[in-house]
This record gives sequence, C-alpha cells and structure tokens, in this order.
Amino acid sequence: MNKIAIITGVSREMGLGYETARQLKELGFKVIITARDFDKVSNLAEQLKVMAKQLDVTNDHSVNNLAKEVENEFGKLDVLVNNAGAFFDQGGEPLSTDLQFVKDAFDTNLLGAWRMIKAFHHLLEKSDSPRIVNVSSGAGSFGDPVFGLAHHFSKVPVYGITKLALNGLTVKVATQLKGSKIKINSVDPGFTATYPGTENYGARPVSEGAKSIIWAITIPDDGPSGEFFRDGQTLSW
Ligand SMILES: NC(=O)c1ccc[n+]([C@@H]2O[C@H](COP(=O)([O-])OP(=O)(O)OC[C@H]3O[C@@H](n4cnc5c(N)ncnc54)[C@H](OP(=O)(O)O)[C@@H]3O)[C@@H](O)[C@H]2O)c1
Repeated sequence: MNKIAIITGVSREMGLGYETARQLKELGFKVIITARDFDKVSNLAEQLKVMAKQLDVTNDHSVNNLAKEVENEFGKLDVLVNNAGAFFDQGGEPLSTDLQFVKDAFDTNLLGAWRMIKAFHHLLEKSDSPRIVNVSSGAGSFGDPVFGLAHHFSKVPVYGITKLALNGLTVKVATQLKGSKIKINSVDPGFTATYPGTENYGARPVSEGAKSIIWAITIPDDGPSGEFFRDGQTLSW
C-alpha cells in the first residue's frame, strides 16, 4: 500500500495521535506524525518507525510549508487526521473566562483544523480514497449524556464550544465537497485514558479511543461524509 497519512498533535506516547499512528502503520499506511516540538515528535517517530515533521497548526507558514514538503515528496495525501487540540478548561465558567484564552483555543481547536484542510485539500483530491478526520469530543455535542454541552457535569465551556464549532466545520466542508472523493467526518474518541489516573474516572484504553478514529479513516468510498461518530456509531449533534 502506498497511502500517506498525516496526524497533527503527536507529542506524547500516551496520546491518541501516537496510538492512531501505531494502528495506521499496522494497517500499512505511510504515516507522518507532527508536533510543535520537533525533538519530541522525532523521538516518537523513531519508536514507531514512521516519519516526523515539525508543525504548529496555529501558524500559517508552518502549515503551508508542510503542504509544500508533502507535495514535493509524495505529490498527494490520502489521510488527514486533525488531532491537535487543547484548552481543556476544566471547571471553567463562560462568564468569567478570559476572551484571549477563548481566541487562542479557537485558533488551535477550530482554525488549526481549518488551516490544515485549506492547505491540504488539493493534495487530498489527488488520492483515490481521501479521508479527513476531525477529532472532536462529546463535550461539543448536545447528545453526550455525561460531557455534553447542556449537562451540568460539562464544565469545559471553551473547549466544548471549540469542538461544537469543529463539528460545524465538518458539516460545511462536507457540503462544499459533495461530489468529490473526499470524505470528512468528526469523531469523538470517547473519554480516553491519555493522562495518568484518568482510567480511575472511567476513561477507556487509548487503543479503543484510537480505533474510533481508525474507523473513520477506513470507511469505504460510499461511506458517510459530514457526520459525527463514536465507535462507528452516529452521535447526535
Ligand atoms: N482523551 C480524551 O478523553 C479525549 C476525549 C475527546 C476528545 N479528545 C481529543 O483528542 C485529541 C487528542 O487528545 P489527547 O487526549 O491524546 O491529548 P494530547 O496528547 O494532549 O493531544 C493533544 C495534542 O495537541 C497538540 N497541540 C496543541 N496545540 C498545538 C498546536 N498549536 N499545533 C500542533 N499541535 C498542538 C499537543 O502538543 P503540545 O505537546 O505541543 O502541546 C498534543 O500533542 C484532542 O483533540 C482532544 O481534544 C480527547
């Protein structure tokens, strides 16, 4: 197989990006993992025997440079996983939140994915079965019974609203790309143990969270686009 996949936000061995890269490599993909810190991502790439590139998704220059490099080296892209995400404002309250924090959160969690899609869609169009997966969260939906937008347990207002917006981006890009080969979907990996101790609060193994992302990467050519899934099951917005 000669399929090229890029994953953003791969700076930690415990993270979903690392595990997604590991599972994609097992499936035979040529994987490029990326992170802001080149030393971190190259160490991880060495472990996985995949490629590493420096990438800050908030920086136009960094994103466009990577697109040029991928174009020169491979001439196409098959899979884009927008996994970079942060600003988990646990315990936050919208009325007291610093709006600079909100702008920074949007710059990474929403515009990061948007920049990547804008920079790479022409390379994705050159693939036979191109896929974009936006790694979202139940915190950005109304349907999630625990972390959802309207539930009192969901005290991550800024993070939740950025993921809500990311889901909106998924729908709008899918609408524009109707008729193209590119399938774009949002995926909630579920509450996943990517930080030590979270398994004590019910987080599931990272292998399971990543499987949810792999599902959306490997959907068939007549599969869905512009939708929101966890474990291959539709989630309500
Ligand atoms: N774990 C869960 O329960 C869960 C549930 C739902 C959704 N998610 C989503 O899953 C994704 C991965 O999360 P994770 O749990 O695996 O945690 P993580 O390892 O902290 O992953 C987030 C990654 O995003 C990177 N990042 C932040 N800002 C960036 C930027 N400007 N440019 C490039 N990379 C940047 C971080 O890199 P640095 O080290 O440079 O900060 C980090 O590698 C996130 O989008 C998260 O919202 C996670």
